[in-house]
Amino acid sequence: MVGSVLLERMQAEGDFAGLEPEFFSTSQVGIPGPAIGGEARPLADAYDLARLARHDALVSCQGGDYTKQVLSSLRESGWQGWWIDAASAKRMDPDSTIVLDPVNRGVIDRAIHDGVRNFIGGNCTVSLMLMALHGLFREGWVEWVSAMTYQAASGAGARQMRELVEQMKFLGDRADGLLQNPAAVALDFDRCVADGLADDEFPQDQFGVPLAASLIPWIDRLMESGETREEWKGFVEANKILQTPEAIPVDGICVRVGAMRCHSQAFTVKLRRDVPLDEIESVMGSANDWVQLVANQPEATRRSLGPAFVSGGLSVPVGRVRKLRMGPDYLGAFSVGDQLLWGAAEPLRRIFHILREHAD
Ligand code: HSE
Repeated sequence: MVGSVLLERMQAEGDFAGLEPEFFSTSQVGIPGPAIGGEARPLADAYDLARLARHDALVSCQGGDYTKQVLSSLRESGWQGWWIDAASAKRMDPDSTIVLDPVNRGVIDRAIHDGVRNFIGGNCTVSLMLMALHGLFREGWVEWVSAMTYQAASGAGARQMRELVEQMKFLGDRADGLLQNPAAVALDFDRCVADGLADDEFPQDQFGVPLAASLIPWIDRLMESGETREEWKGFVEANKILQTPEAIPVDGICVRVGAMRCHSQAFTVKLRRDVPLDEIESVMGSANDWVQLVANQPEATRRSLGPAFVSGGLSVPVGRVRKLRMGPDYLGAFSVGDQLLWGAAEPLRRIFHILREHAD
């Protein structure tokens, strides 16, 4: 899915101009690949190391197992090209840089200068948090952040997106009779949905439990610390991206909700000092070209700060910005972003450009 979105974005931005791309597959070798410049060449074998090694740069959206298997063999064979990857397998390795250039261009430039060859896109939730709170981090105002997330089905995978829609349909179909009956009351609908969720036929092969009309406060596997791996990534990846002199605590609870492809997050930010709210808003709203400050007003919030308004776009709205009751140095905020774009594909196509610029 990330590969498809990346391809769409690269075509939309004319990124293939001047390149000689070759497309590889682990499972569909030989079928026609994407028609770039009008010509659809057959997909090459993604395990053909000699063929991969002909290229100056390789971009992988294949997943961590593929990275583990192929990258070390390529390096052992002497390949010195740029490896650009969406998977998490190499993110925390010392010979990799996590890329989110609107936020860490300086880190990226230093890495290129130092000869780093592996550039990896960050976890979607982390990248979207940093895009949204960029200004606060840049000013050095953040002492710690708690991010409570509302993560879309797409983060779990393509099959899970389909299953979410199947779950919605299952419940909708069961409620059809009630919806035709003007006398049906709220508790009738509630019973109907509850019965549907408990039905043996309820489609839940992928999630294992209902997501539609419910939520799942668990993403990825348990770490020894009691965090999920998704929560752990929030701290380690954010700090690897930012590379501040002292690590900034980032923690929270990651929750899967029934959105399709946009992750939302509610933040509590402990500021290092009491910065006036208007100054905070001005810094947050102008930190990069994609963050959009949403006024802390009901209509503006309802009409722009939700997955329904952000899906398929590059903007990262951030709103509900206000000082919290805990004290003048506690800030609340809420943000939404498309996890397939800024959360996955966009940092990859942008690092590709940056590396081309360096190579020219
Ligand atoms: N791990 C994320 C999720 C998506 O499950 O939503 C990829 O970064």
